[in-house]
Amino acid sequence: MTTAIDKAGTFTLGDRTVRRMGYGAMQLAGPGVFGPPRDHAQALAVLRAAVEAGVNHIDTCDYYGPHVVNQVIREALAPYPDDLTLVTKIGARRGSDASWLPAFSREELISAVHDNLRNLGLERLEVVNFRRMGKVHAPSEGPIEAEVEVLAELREQGLIRHIGLSNVTAAQVEAARKIVPIACVQNQYNLAHREDEALIATLAEQGIAYVPFFPLGGFTPLQSETLSRVAADLHATPMQVALAWLLHRSPNILLISGTSSVAHLQENLAAAELALPAEALTRLDGIAKEAAPAH
Ligand SMILES: NC(=O)c1ccc[n+]([C@@H]2O[C@H](COP(=O)([O-])OP(=O)(O)OC[C@H]3O[C@@H](n4cnc5c(N)ncnc54)[C@H](OP(=O)(O)O)[C@@H]3O)[C@@H](O)[C@H]2O)c1
Repeated sequence: MTTAIDKAGTFTLGDRTVRRMGYGAMQLAGPGVFGPPRDHAQALAVLRAAVEAGVNHIDTCDYYGPHVVNQVIREALAPYPDDLTLVTKIGARRGSDASWLPAFSREELISAVHDNLRNLGLERLEVVNFRRMGKVHAPSEGPIEAEVEVLAELREQGLIRHIGLSNVTAAQVEAARKIVPIACVQNQYNLAHREDEALIATLAEQGIAYVPFFPLGGFTPLQSETLSRVAADLHATPMQVALAWLLHRSPNILLISGTSSVAHLQENLAAAELALPAEALTRLDGIAKEAAPAH
């Protein structure tokens, strides 16, 4: 199938070729990523519209809801298209007050893999990211080997095909790669948060996908006068420019922008066709400096 999002190209994730324009399902849970979707029918429609448009990489997690987002994905898309790569993550659980709690023990990691299998209705998970708590949305140094070894064991048992890491440092990626091949890294990165420049380049050389979370700014969507002006000059929206910039930034970047709206999904996917002239790239590159705290 040829689609408009083919313009964004493809990359190898694990041993599958996925379109670089993917979708992140977190926004399908209720407020605070807790409980059922505000609009169940719309949640199903967003997932189906994404796949219809050619999206074959969807990011999810069993602690979105919890359980709810995986169950909605299953309801909307199972039996899954052969080329659909569902990527999930483990390493946290939710408190009854919607809090995000660490869940790193061997037992918790194993039971999280089984929760994902059950709620997605799969016998094997294509890619599982181990998500470190770190400094919530930024990584912090510390050992990672024990958790990666548990995932490697589950891979040996055939429950997982590929392993990824989330919210990690370059040193942690290297430590994990000594234990098992790493398919992808998922960290916060966007026009305003560019701490991972060197890591992205290293991963690109190693053929490892880099999947930015909060590509549009997440819970506080990106706002910048420069971004708005560039978008107006290009007759595009700021969100489209932010996504086109990520696509341009490095060929190993895969997009998983999130939305609970079909209209926003379609707007975001159309960024695959947006070319950014050199002078727009220069202006956009300045946004990280505007966003940096003054010293
Ligand atoms: N590994 C991790 O720790 C981690 C952390 C966070 C997220 N993630 C993953 O990354 C994915 C993306 O992150 P995210 O969804 O938090 O953030 P995001 O993609 O940066 O932004 C989503 C926010 O932008 C809004 N939005 C999306 N498209 C828009 C448009 N065209 N115009 C205006 N507003 C728009 C969404 O609201 P509407 O629903 O109204 O469109 C939502 O509030 C998640 O779905 C999840 O799979 C991973």
